[in-house]
Amino acid sequence: MVKITETSLRDGHQSLIATRLKTSEILDIVEKMDQVGYHALEVWGGATFDSCLRFLDEDPWERLREIKKRVKNTKLQMLLRGQNLLGYKHYPDDIVELFVKKSIENGIDIIRIFDALNDIRNLKTAVDATKKYGGHCQIAISYTTSEVHTIDYYVNLSVEIEKMGADSICIKDMAGVLLPMDAYNLVSQLKEKITVPIELHTHQTSGTGGMTYLKAIEAGVDIIDTAISPFSGGTSQPATESLYYSLLNTKYDTKLNGEVLNDITEYFTKIRNDYLKSGLLNPKALMTNPNILKYQVPGGMLSNLMSQLEKQGSFDKYEDVLKEVPRVRAELGYPPLVTPISQMVGTQAVMNVMTNERYKVIPQEIKDYVKGLYGKAPVEVSMEIRERIIGNEKVITYRPADDLLPMYKEIKEKYKDLAKNDEDLLSCALFPQVAVDFITKRDKIEVIEEDEIIEFNLLMA
Ligand code: CO
Repeated sequence: MVKITETSLRDGHQSLIATRLKTSEILDIVEKMDQVGYHALEVWGGATFDSCLRFLDEDPWERLREIKKRVKNTKLQMLLRGQNLLGYKHYPDDIVELFVKKSIENGIDIIRIFDALNDIRNLKTAVDATKKYGGHCQIAISYTTSEVHTIDYYVNLSVEIEKMGADSICIKDMAGVLLPMDAYNLVSQLKEKITVPIELHTHQTSGTGGMTYLKAIEAGVDIIDTAISPFSGGTSQPATESLYYSLLNTKYDTKLNGEVLNDITEYFTKIRNDYLKSGLLNPKALMTNPNILKYQVPGGMLSNLMSQLEKQGSFDKYEDVLKEVPRVRAELGYPPLVTPISQMVGTQAVMNVMTNERYKVIPQEIKDYVKGLYGKAPVEVSMEIRERIIGNEKVITYRPADDLLPMYKEIKEKYKDLAKNDEDLLSCALFPQVAVDFITKRDKIEVIEEDEIIEFNLLMA
C-alpha cells in the first residue's frame, strides 16, 4: 500500500494561486477531506502563514485551530524551514523551540523540516523541539542536481538525518527535477540503508512527476505527495485521483475512498474555475514546462524571474538571465534552489545581466551567504568569487544561529501592548510589519463590534 499526503491546502494553492485560498474555502471542505483516508493533510507553511497575514487579513493560527477542530482522523502536516522557521533568516533557538511547541499545541502532527543547504546543523533545534513536544519529526532532504549532488551524497545525508532522530525522511524535490529512473535508484538505495518511512515530494512542472512517483513506488517509497486534480498539475503536484486510479487494485492500492474523493474534486473544481476567471490562476502555471530540466530552475523561480523582468520592461533578457542562473549557482557552491536561496540566486543573476557586469551590484543576502551566515555551502566558494563578493571579510565556520541571543524576552516587551498571546508574538517576530498591521486591524475590528453590541444593548434597554 502507498500512502498519500494531500497538498492542495498548502503547496497546491501556493504553487498555482499564490497561496490565496481563504480559510472559509478550506473549512467548508476539510471535514470531507478527513474522510478520504489520506495519510496526512499538508495545511501550513511559510507562504500560507505569510499570505494569511499579508493578503487575506486572517490569523494563520486561527486557521490551523479551526482545521484541527474539523479533522479528527487525518494527521495535519506543516513545512518548516529549519532555523528559518517560516521566514527568510535564522532565528534564535528560543524562538525556534517556542514556534515548534505552539505549532504542535495548535494542531500540527507532522513537521516536515528542511534546510535549503542541507546543513544539518540548521535542523537540530527544530528537530529536538519537535520530538520534545511530541510531534512526528520528518526531516526533508532538499533535492537538487549538480556534480556534487549524487545518489551517494543523498544516501549519506539520509543516514545522518536518521541518526538525528527523524521519524520519517522526505525527498523534497521542490523544483520537480527528479527524473523517474533517478527516483528509482535513489529510493532503492535509501530503502536499503534507512529503516524509517520514505516520502517523496515532487512537482508536475516538467511533466515528469507522475512517472517519477510510479518509479519511486516500484522502488518501495512509502508515501507520496499529491494534490486534488483542480489544484494539481503544472507547477503543483501530480493529481491525487490520477495516482489513486493508477494504483487501484494493485499491491500499491492507496485505499483512499474514491467516492469522497469525487466530492472533493467537484468542490475544488468550482473554486479553481473562479480563480481562473479572476486571473489569480494564470493558465501558464498549468502548462508543461520541460525547460526547468534544461535550466534546473524551479517553476516558482521561473515565474518570479518572468514577472521581475516584465515589470522592468526587460523581458527580452529572460533567456540571458536563465543562462546566468546556473553560472551564479555554480560559483556559489551549488546551493539547492529553494527559498530563500532561489530568490537570492535569481536576483543576483538578474543584476548580473541588467548591469552588463557580473557582480557589479551584490545584494546583502548574497554577501551574507558567502560569509556562511546561511550555513555551509555544498561546495566551498572559490577564493576568487569570495573576494569579489565580500573582499577580505571573515567567513564563519560554526552554526549561524550560535551568534544569536535569545529573543523571547525582548519581543515580549516590544509587543506587550499588541500581542495577546505567544502565537501573536511569534507572528510579530516572523513577519513584523504585516503581523503588526494585521493584529492592529483585527483588534480594532473587535473593539468596534463590542461597542456596537453595547449600543445595541442600550437601545434594547
Ligand atoms: Co513543493
